[in-house]
Amino acid sequence: MANAQDASISVVQTQAFADQQPGTSGLRKSVGRFQEAHYLENFLQSLFDTVPGLAGETLVIGGDGRFYNTTAIQTALRMAAANGVARVLVGRHGILSTPAASCVIRKNKAEGGIIFSASHNPGGPEGDFGVKFNHRNGGPAPEAITEAIFAASQGITEYKIIETEDVDLSRLHGTQLGEMTVQVIDPVADYADLMESLFDFERIRDLLFRDDFSLCFDALHAVTGPYAEEILGRRLGARSSGLINCQPKEDFGGGHPDPNPVYATGLIERMGEPEGATFGAASDGDGDRNMVMGRNFFVAPSDSLAVLAANARLVPAYEAGLAGVARSMPTSQAVDRVAKQLGISCFETPTGWKFFGNLLDAGKITLCGEESAGTGSNHVREKDGLWAVLFWLNIVARLGQTVEAILRDHWLTFGRDYYTRHDFEGLDKGKADDLMAGLRESLPRLEGQSFAGQTVAWADDFAYTDPVDGSVTAKQGIRIGLTGGGRIVYRLSGTGTAGATLRVYMEDYEGNPDRHDLDTQERLAQIIRAAHEIAKIQAFTGRDQPTVVT
Ligand code: G1P
Ligand code: ZN
Repeated sequence: MANAQDASISVVQTQAFADQQPGTSGLRKSVGRFQEAHYLENFLQSLFDTVPGLAGETLVIGGDGRFYNTTAIQTALRMAAANGVARVLVGRHGILSTPAASCVIRKNKAEGGIIFSASHNPGGPEGDFGVKFNHRNGGPAPEAITEAIFAASQGITEYKIIETEDVDLSRLHGTQLGEMTVQVIDPVADYADLMESLFDFERIRDLLFRDDFSLCFDALHAVTGPYAEEILGRRLGARSSGLINCQPKEDFGGGHPDPNPVYATGLIERMGEPEGATFGAASDGDGDRNMVMGRNFFVAPSDSLAVLAANARLVPAYEAGLAGVARSMPTSQAVDRVAKQLGISCFETPTGWKFFGNLLDAGKITLCGEESAGTGSNHVREKDGLWAVLFWLNIVARLGQTVEAILRDHWLTFGRDYYTRHDFEGLDKGKADDLMAGLRESLPRLEGQSFAGQTVAWADDFAYTDPVDGSVTAKQGIRIGLTGGGRIVYRLSGTGTAGATLRVYMEDYEGNPDRHDLDTQERLAQIIRAAHEIAKIQAFTGRDQPTVVT
């Protein structure tokens, strides 16, 4: 084998794989699929062929540390060198959380970044793997690019790679791979500095020392462990006993790295103890999602976005106010009410972070978020788990109230948007497609019809025209407005790796403060029934109950 400096380029013959179309967030498949000969290489070559600007420029590479991460990174390094990339910045041990990768791309003016992650999907040899491409602005590549990569993957016949030994990823150093420079960087430092520049660390430090306040952050054995230890631990002084599961593991310790009350069991247990924490938080596999809770009190992500928007001026970075906000279409309308009161625009985008990029770049919005535990701002071009936790800590420090009290005050001011998402996982793909086709076909007839006592006021198939570049993205989910003000949304997941998942999102507004304490499922029971009837869920799928309720 040649040494790193004079490595020769091999051109390897290959055949296309039909299933390389990126979904909501990159190409996500089982580890087994990615381990098939040429599978990863084909996709990466399609990427290098589609984004020619990478040659001669800087590329950032990292991942969430799951099984197959470092193998994939070594392949990506060899292929980047063979495809003329001038310089790669790669995280030590192959680690870069998704928001940290976005930060590093922007800070170093890189041409783009490759992030290996399947987000909150389980990891390990039997789990999932994924690859995402972020472009120059640090955000997920827009659909025009991901579609072009897919098109290239369908006609691929060969890929380029250099023959060389592995790059040592275990220490910070610089090296050459053929003509290309590789810099192994600290995955945490730039991101931690950015966080320190946005928030009032002094006040948060004081908060963490208060007797009546106690923090528990659960990294779920995923990528945010080292970030939490540096930022919450070393820079803010959080006790190490309050930082749990911070050792990243290839299989996330056998868990499901999705920050919600179902999977963050360590956190829920800790919060339930008599002397338990008063503020709890968790993040997902690649560090872009967040969950925030008070004692026995879970903050719904849609509400979280609204609270952050309403209190943004308490945070140094957003003191001057917000340019505008955006939420993905299925996210509840709680933030719309805040935007209205603040007199700023509120954009409704399709599901997936890539749709926020143009709005952020154009300065039309400052904050944005999704119901699926994602919140972010113009500080990077990804949703950002720890950023959201710090934002909350900053607000709690400024208001001197508990998480629950902050939410209750918010509902008093704006009213409460009861919200739930029901997922029907593991459906037969054909049946799920038939259900959606049936809904689309019924659209023209729905208006004025009643289901379980709910009357349809309007219904459509959500299409989005990007206000910045004019691109149109159609068929993004069926929306149904009810005469009482409630709303139902249906769409199929674009991140699964087997079968199909139907997501049904339901919400209703409650202005009466005496009714802000109801059980969400009970409060929405009628709308849930209507949602089942309208889409004929049982008839199409054979299911009368969802698999996951959030
Ligand atoms: C899911 C979420 C979506 C999020 C994406 C990536 O996508 O619903 O909000 O952007 O994961 O984290 P879905 O599976 O619904 O296509
Ligand atoms: Zn994620």
